[in-house]
Formats: sequence, C-alpha cells, structure tokens
Amino acid sequence: MYKTFFTLVFRRMDPERAHHLAFRWIRLAARVPVLRTFVAAVLAPRYPELRTEALGLRMHGPFGLAAGFDKNAVAIDGMAMLGFDHVEIGTVTGEPQPGNPRKRLFRLVPDRALINRMGFNNDGSAAVAARLAAREEVFRTVVGVNIGKTKVVPEAGAAADYVKSAERLAPHADYLVVNVSSPNTPGLRDLQATEALRPLLTAVREAADRAVPTRRVPLLVKIAPDLADEDVDAVADLAVELGLDGIIATNTTIAREGLGLTSDPALVAETGGLSGAPLKARSLEVLRRLYARVGDRVTLVGVGGIENAEDAWQRILAGATLVQGYSAFIYEGPFWSRAVHKGLAARLRTSPYATLADAVGADVKETA
Ligand SMILES: Cc1cc2nc3c(=O)[nH]c(=O)nc-3n(C[C@H](O)[C@H](O)[C@H](O)COP(=O)(O)O)c2cc1C
Repeated sequence: MYKTFFTLVFRRMDPERAHHLAFRWIRLAARVPVLRTFVAAVLAPRYPELRTEALGLRMHGPFGLAAGFDKNAVAIDGMAMLGFDHVEIGTVTGEPQPGNPRKRLFRLVPDRALINRMGFNNDGSAAVAARLAAREEVFRTVVGVNIGKTKVVPEAGAAADYVKSAERLAPHADYLVVNVSSPNTPGLRDLQATEALRPLLTAVREAADRAVPTRRVPLLVKIAPDLADEDVDAVADLAVELGLDGIIATNTTIAREGLGLTSDPALVAETGGLSGAPLKARSLEVLRRLYARVGDRVTLVGVGGIENAEDAWQRILAGATLVQGYSAFIYEGPFWSRAVHKGLAARLRTSPYATLADAVGADVKETA
C-alpha cells in the first residue's frame, strides 16, 4: 500500500517537500492520544527477546532512527510511535544555520538510494536544548543527540563550537555523538584525523562532564565510509585509548559505487552524500573491521544501507550492538521498523544464540 502511495504521491513531489509533509503527519498523529496509542500498538510491537542494553541504557530493541531525519528534535515521540527503539536527533550545530540552498535532496529510486547536501540545516544548539528541556515525554525512548560544526566557524574554532553544543545539549541527551563525517560541511571530515580528533573528543568529553556532573553521558563518534582502512583502524585505536563509549559506522559516502540502475546521469552527478542500498557493502565492511579491532571494548552502531531485518541481523553478527536506518524508511514507509523487528526476532529464535547480545560480532569472532 505504501509503495503505491509513494509512487503516486511522494515520488512526484520534490523530495524535501515530501519529507516535510510526511513529517507533519507523523507529528500530528503523535499529538492525538487515541491515535498514537493505536499506531504504536500496530507499528511498535515489543519483542521481549529483542530487549537491548547498550551504552548503559535500556532499550526495547536495537533498531533506531539515524541522525538527519529529526534534526531539530520536534518528532521524537512520533518516531518512537513508529517503532524506532532510539531516536538520534541532529545534527545540531553551535549556532542556527539554514543549510545549503535547495534543491539539496535527491532520490535515486531504482537504486533505492538518496543523495543529500543538506548542510546541517538546523535551529542551533540553544533552541534545540530548550526544546528538549521542555519536552513532555509520551513514549519512553532513548534520545541520542548528534552534534556538528557550524559552517561559518573556521576549523581552528571547531572544538569550541562542539563544546558549546555539548554543554547545552548533554543534559538532555541519553548519548552524545560527535559527527565528523558529513561530506556537506567543508573541512569537517578532516577532523577524523587522529591529531584533530583526539583533542576534539577530549574537549567534548570534558564539556559533557562539566555540564552533567551527576551522570556520565555516553560519547560516540560517527565516521565516514570513505576513510581508508588504516584510518578506520586509527579511529578504533583512538576510541579505545580515550575510553570512548561508541563508534557509529557509517555516515553517507562521496563515492558513487554500487549505483547501477538510476538512469539519469545528472542525478548521479549531484554533489553530496550517497545513502541507502549502494552504501550497504562498505558500511558493513567498516563495521566488521572496527569490531575486529575493538571487540567488546567499544559499542558499535551499524548504519548505512540497512533495508530489512536480514541487513540488520548481518550488522549485529558483524559487531553492531545497535543498528540504525534512514533512507530505507523513505522507500519502505511506516511499516518498516515493524518488519525489521519481526524479522530480527524470528532470526534470533532460529539462531544458535540465546540473546541478541550473544549474536553481536559472532561472525567476526568465528573468522578470527
Ligand atoms: C537527507 C539526509 C540527511 C542526513 N543528515 C545527517 C545529519 O544531519 N547528521 C548525521 O550524522 N547523518 C546524517 N545523515 C546520514 C544518516 O544518518 C546515515 O548515516 C546515512 O544516511 C546512512 O544510512 P542509510 O543508508 O540508512 O540512510 C543524513 C542522511 C540523509 C539521507
């Protein structure tokens, strides 16, 4: 049903307009008590065997919404209503900014992919912190807060910009993510080099501890799939050295591999980050490499091209404790997370593993 609707309605609309329209419906539904209870009962069924503990947090399951969908923390309950077990809001920057000029989001439908160069359009850390502080929680869900650099801030001021966001947002975050991997802010991905990343992560850690002295807010870093393998290893080693809580692998890619079906070369040539199905293989590879390096010392979050329960299961076997998705939600619609949960529970039941935690990294351990 959703696929027909997508073809007849959303596909004919500008992708960003379609996003805002769908987003508005989700937010509206989440405001009506009877409706949201009904929708959640249908779309967010609870499977006790999927209960997950990660980053010191309890979740209904391992599957969450990746950053970028709810940049301003306006639809957390709506997304929880649709069955996402955690919602990562952001990227939020120190200061508000409009992002890049439109058009900046493109659908590559035959390849089940997206290209975006949104450029961190968001309300800024002060406004988002105020929104989170005022939030009246409807559905208990884990809220991750993803932070990035304000575009006009030069690289020399990057750490201060992240620190500002961390101080404002850490009190409202179940976990905090330092995003150094979006391709749409010039120079941002250079912060992945360990000489830049070490002081940045140290400063953000200190800022979070200053802002929240009573609780250790878990800190993660989100990396690009375009890192060379030895740079992935370097980030893994740094994470262990700094006692980082987690690594999110991966963001979108600037590569254009894995695209075979989209016939319009003008679309493929759009600058920005590619997400969805073509990203699957590299994201899985990066995750596997990270797990081989850090094992259970750092929590890994698998994201990039996850389309169904089998993809999510493969990420868990490759070392992910949590998995996230974004692009497939656009193509699969509101029943997507329900299908992922159902399929994950079925796979766990027929697997040799008693719990989901036992399955984490099983493939990598086996080949080691
Ligand atoms: C339109 C769009 C906007 C995004 N914005 C952000 C963002 O602000 N911060 C971030 O860390 N990742 C952002 N991402 C990347 C996703 O969180 C995710 O890492 C990536 O899309 C790969 O997952 P997927 O293949 O399931 O979409 C964005 C992705 C898309 C498609």
